[in-house]
Amino acid sequence: MAALRAAILFLVFAYATASVLKAKPNILTNLMRERHPRSIDVSAAHSLINEPKLRVDLSPKSYKLELEPIMENNTFRGRVIINVEWESESKEISLHTHQDLKILQVEVRTKDQINLNDAPTILDAKTRERHEKKPILTIFLSSSVPKGTVGEIEITFEGCLEVDITEAFFVTTFDDITGKSTKLVATHLRPNNARKVFPCFDEPAYKTPFEISIRRPKNMIALSNTPLKKTEDIPSDPDSVWDHFETTLPMSTYSVGVVVANLTKTDSMVVDTFGNKIEISIWCRAEYMEALNETLSKVESTFKEISQFWDLSLPLKKLDLVALPYYTGVKSADNWGLIIFKESELSSRGYFKLSQELMYQWLGGLVSPAWWSEAHINKALVGYLSASTAIKMDNGSELDGKWPMTILYSLYYEFSKRYPHSRITGMKQETTCSKIELLFRMLNYTIGEKAFKVGLQTFINQKKYGVFTSDDIWKALHVAAVEENTISQSMCVKEIATSWVTKDRLPVVSINRNYQTKSAVVNQRVYLRERPHDVPGQDKLLWWIPLVIMQQNNLNFSNTTPTTWIPKTKDLTIENMPRSDQFIIVNPEEIGPFPVNYDEKNWNMLAKYLMSSSRLSIPVNTRAKLLHDAWNLAYAGDLSFATALDMTAFLNKERDHLVWDPVFTMIDHIGRHIDSSIVHKKFETYVRNLLTPLYEELGDEKKDDESWKINLRSLAKTFLCRAGYKPCIEEAQAMFKVWMDASNPDEGNPISNQYICPVFKWGSKEEWEFGLQRVINFPSSRRLNERTYLLKTLAGCPITSWKIQKLLNITILEENGNFTDNDIFLIFSMLTGGSRGYTTLFDFLKNNWDTIKIRFENKTNLWDNLISSATSVFTTQEGLDLVTKLYVSRQGEFGSAEHIIEKSLKNIREETKWSVDNLPIIEDWLNVYLKKAAAEGKDDGKFIGYDQEGKEMN
Ligand SMILES: *[C@@H]1O[C@H](CO)[C@@H](O)[C@H](O)[C@H]1NC(C)=O
Ligand SMILES: *[C@@H]1O[C@H](CO)[C@@H](O)[C@H](O)[C@H]1NC(C)=O
Ligand SMILES: *[C@@H]1O[C@H](CO)[C@@H](O)[C@H](O)[C@H]1NC(C)=O
Ligand SMILES: *[C@@H]1O[C@H](CO)[C@@H](O)[C@H](O)[C@H]1NC(C)=O
Ligand SMILES: *[C@@H]1O[C@H](CO)[C@@H](O)[C@H](O)[C@H]1NC(C)=O
Repeated sequence: MAALRAAILFLVFAYATASVLKAKPNILTNLMRERHPRSIDVSAAHSLINEPKLRVDLSPKSYKLELEPIMENNTFRGRVIINVEWESESKEISLHTHQDLKILQVEVRTKDQINLNDAPTILDAKTRERHEKKPILTIFLSSSVPKGTVGEIEITFEGCLEVDITEAFFVTTFDDITGKSTKLVATHLRPNNARKVFPCFDEPAYKTPFEISIRRPKNMIALSNTPLKKTEDIPSDPDSVWDHFETTLPMSTYSVGVVVANLTKTDSMVVDTFGNKIEISIWCRAEYMEALNETLSKVESTFKEISQFWDLSLPLKKLDLVALPYYTGVKSADNWGLIIFKESELSSRGYFKLSQELMYQWLGGLVSPAWWSEAHINKALVGYLSASTAIKMDNGSELDGKWPMTILYSLYYEFSKRYPHSRITGMKQETTCSKIELLFRMLNYTIGEKAFKVGLQTFINQKKYGVFTSDDIWKALHVAAVEENTISQSMCVKEIATSWVTKDRLPVVSINRNYQTKSAVVNQRVYLRERPHDVPGQDKLLWWIPLVIMQQNNLNFSNTTPTTWIPKTKDLTIENMPRSDQFIIVNPEEIGPFPVNYDEKNWNMLAKYLMSSSRLSIPVNTRAKLLHDAWNLAYAGDLSFATALDMTAFLNKERDHLVWDPVFTMIDHIGRHIDSSIVHKKFETYVRNLLTPLYEELGDEKKDDESWKINLRSLAKTFLCRAGYKPCIEEAQAMFKVWMDASNPDEGNPISNQYICPVFKWGSKEEWEFGLQRVINFPSSRRLNERTYLLKTLAGCPITSWKIQKLLNITILEENGNFTDNDIFLIFSMLTGGSRGYTTLFDFLKNNWDTIKIRFENKTNLWDNLISSATSVFTTQEGLDLVTKLYVSRQGEFGSAEHIIEKSLKNIREETKWSVDNLPIIEDWLNVYLKKAAAEGKDDGKFIGYDQEGKEMN
């Protein structure tokens, strides 16, 4: 398990290194992804924001829907009768129908409003039209229908079940426990897949009752949103029956849900909340029953907790939770009254996923977003409330106490880039949602838990069975905050929220205390970490920022009421600061998602306090924040590194993993930046001194270690190994030898991935060459990603020029046919991860210029990539000189890469400035530190010493 984690960790580093040049990898992104799997849901909903809406001249009042899945040939048939009312006079009816759905018959009828029992009038549906590119069915009537008319549209249709994805109406085939091939069908209609299953008004705001009937094989069960009303035999087909379900409450089309499968009800119970009795059942295939034996009681307690939060029962008679075999959706299908989970998700230990899906029954089922533009608010509120519910249920043990810091740190890195989201655009909707989730958290703290809860309760009561916009939420919170007196008259929750929602940025707050007058000047501006800080229009970006202030003489971290708010202005002066020998902490516990800078004196007082025995009176997330902010502000150039490094002194005593988490990211960022400098060696010694006591104290892995401990140990080990920790390297080499001694090493790699990088980094030529041969001789029968991993480590790990040269010689000069262009791209990007890599690549380019130019003559992409990888990552004057010299001597020969080298020079100048400013400070600090460490007799004997060239081990 630990091996696997280390492997994942390396891959994340490797990936980050490979994907970008200037981007600093973020080891926390993978933690974020674990909890926030990239949901197609939000992106899909986002892409619908600008979709044209249907004509509004008639609206649906209810649906009668019959579906007949035909599993033999993966098709389905159906009939829908939509009761409609004309909102304005019209001759045309438009409704959503996916292009792949085949329409068999259409009939439009009007009814006499007074004598509803009279036979309806069949209208002449003259023609109908399908659009090739739009999922719209238009029916043209021969005469226009007056406003206020009621009627019905009846359509029969057929379509194909989805077989490759578990979306829309899908079928999956699998072997059951007896080895017999069996099938099941189910639906997942979010966000706009209902139109693939039946013609409908597929917009979330059309909420109507549905009466659903499903034809199923007799030996299977059918489930839908409501309880079964009756089962009807089919005289012509003794093997199937019709199941008719009770009429639903008004709901959006995406809430329709159907399952037909051979499932067993494992358990059910009636839960009574506020007088509404709801029968909750768990369904799964028979052989999965055992794994779900504890699920129902978890569902019950979570369900009750959520009902209590809303002070409102879910108005359903039943709620089915289905563990659906072979369901592959990234997100569960949260149909109203029928939630479809992956099997493993329903049986999993934690509460988060469960809380989330139950929460969607209220937010999404009972109230629905008025349009797709509100989908991210819906998701964010569900995210925040379900995380707090999950934490209540198990005291946060599932999330290792990491919520919300992991998502917060990711946001800090992303939003402080020069171009946020420029690299992984798919993440943009996800990060926007996370940011709003943290905004809800901030409001909960600042307007107070009571106002927050009461506001949301009012909101859901006002909007139940209907739809909402974000304004409805802000308004309800505002009214509650005014009522509770937790917000001043001059403020408005909507204005506060909007200032955070509308920007793809976060602010940073700086505090400059005036110790004589006991006042402080507070300033806000855009938080920028990547240099240069030249974002256009940044002065205009202003937020409403809560200032929760702790004073040393009165540390009460449970009081989260802001002393004041910075309105949307740049500066603010605050009074009543403590005596000059007492520190303040602003924004403790990351109440608002923003870093805080102080004057040097206040930082120093904090550093000193953290070293003292009272430091535990500052809670863990605040200790982590102080450290995180100090390093990142120094990295951004906004704080002296000496001050930031002083803030790390307390790590000697710190053993809480939550404080350590951000430390690894910082070691990686700083280490990478100063990699080419002589200071790096001293920095590595510092890192060893920091990590060795921690690692040794954590000891060997024990069977029942908590996951945070396993994680922390593995991180410490990975970083120590990188810094040359002998026990780790010797272990890795011993393991590697097993592979080298194998009689047929190409059959497979018998050792865990965690051992490979240390061997390629610190090990001998022979060991590295053995690895190279494994890539060259990689049999096509093995999984390709194993080869990719090996190649990445072969290129990315070494700190010896020889190894890198050899790889470049083989792949480029000798044009060994075992390597593809993609392999070469991968090698280039891996080499940008460390100074030995990119300097060797630069020398290789310089020395073999003519040969390479000919080789890459028709491969502009490779050439451009080579120029970029070989030149852009230098960070010092020395590097700048090298690259400038090449630029001048090869003027006019760069071809397509001309602008790339110019951009590189610009970057290097920027980074050089950073190095000139910071390296001497870092070095001075490290000198003092190392001298002190030596005086204390810290033993560095367990580490490999190496010179700049990276001495070989024997
Ligand atoms: C699928 O099977 C049904 C029932 O046997 C049949 O009516 C229908 O035509 C078949 N559809 C296709 C596309 O073969
Ligand atoms: C349904 O599942 C049960 C238990 O796995 C099995 O015994 C039975 O044969 C299955 N029925 C069908 C029709 O596949
Ligand atoms: C559920 O099954 C597991 C594993 O078989 C067992 O350890 C546990 O005690 C069971 N729980 C209940 C409530 O029966
Ligand atoms: C790479 O090739 C160059 C030029 O052919 C040669 O001088 C050098 O020794 C080679 N390096 C390695 C490590 O094979
Ligand atoms: C792959 O490498 C092997 C061993 O070096 C060599 O014999 C073979 O020719 C190479 N294959 C190609 C297609 O170049």
